[in-house]
Amino acid sequence: MTGSDARGFAHEPVMISECMQLLNLHSGDCAADFTVGGGGHSAAMARLVSPGGTLVAMDRDTDAIGAAGRRLAEFSENVDVKLLHCDFSSSRKALLESLGQRAHGLDGALFDLGVSSYQLDGPRGFSFLRDEPLDMRMDRSQGRTAADLVADATNDELFTILRDFGEERFASAIARKIVERRQTARISRTSQLAEAVMAAVPRSAWPKDKHVATRTFQAVRIAVNEELAHIEAGLNIAIDLLRPGGRLVVISFQSLEDRIVKQRLLAGAGRAPSPPGRSPAAMLPRDDVAVLSILTKKPMEASASEVASNPRSRSARLRAAEKL
Ligand SMILES: C[S@@+](CC[C@H](N)C(=O)[O-])C[C@H]1O[C@@H](n2cnc3c(N)ncnc32)[C@H](O)[C@@H]1O
Repeated sequence: MTGSDARGFAHEPVMISECMQLLNLHSGDCAADFTVGGGGHSAAMARLVSPGGTLVAMDRDTDAIGAAGRRLAEFSENVDVKLLHCDFSSSRKALLESLGQRAHGLDGALFDLGVSSYQLDGPRGFSFLRDEPLDMRMDRSQGRTAADLVADATNDELFTILRDFGEERFASAIARKIVERRQTARISRTSQLAEAVMAAVPRSAWPKDKHVATRTFQAVRIAVNEELAHIEAGLNIAIDLLRPGGRLVVISFQSLEDRIVKQRLLAGAGRAPSPPGRSPAAMLPRDDVAVLSILTKKPMEASASEVASNPRSRSARLRAAEKL
């Protein structure tokens, strides 16, 4: 299924049939899409809870909220659609304000993490493929831009960001090159950041399957949007607000995100993640009472046919759980 609106907000919702099956929504249910984006998953959720259901569709990007509003207008007669501009961390307050005590009875919650095609393809500095202002904020109403971060961070901070959020082998050399280059001119465009990376990494070490600046752009984006901290906060809120039997479905696109999701679900199921070097069989029971039953023993991946038609789905990893 492809979503597209008049302003070109196109996005192919990833693993949509797997998501809908696992969410197991019915007419009259109350569901929350924490990452409405172009509204593809939300439209499918609205169809399932119709008639008489409620769908809360959230995003930190006001453009996404606008596009999703147009996309979801067709359901307004049969579904109570609520569009909320908020990030994961403030979603509890937004959900409670919008649903009142009903917020504690969510039947399903979906997270489709990362950036949308619209954000990647738009002139917002997410991509090294075009020369654009280096912004990278998902929510342009607040926070510092990627250009601000690259200008203000110390060499050590840049190194840590590149190592931890990009898993970049050349983090040290790239951080040094950024600091060297910004002494002559502010790095305010995507092309300048990409060129700094190209200059820092020896040509012989450039990856064959992706642009040499891919990991740097990922790292800076994650730092600018504080993505990993938000994921943990959002999952906690969703797990808390699901009713017993309600389902949580999360799609992530890179290992850092997936690790947080995996660990949160394991902890919710009363199992601590296995310490490094120990087999999963050695997982330690936690003291907390289990609140989740994990539905996906291993993360699900997109089918070969979906990967062929939507290359973005290639790196998708889906995990799901049911509230006990
Ligand atoms: C991959 S897209 C979602 C696409 C959507 N499922 C669809 O069908 O079009 C991810 C969306 O999540 C939003 N997002 C990412 N992190 C967020 C956060 N911490 N809080 C709120 N929204 C977030 C992004 O702005 C983006 O629009």
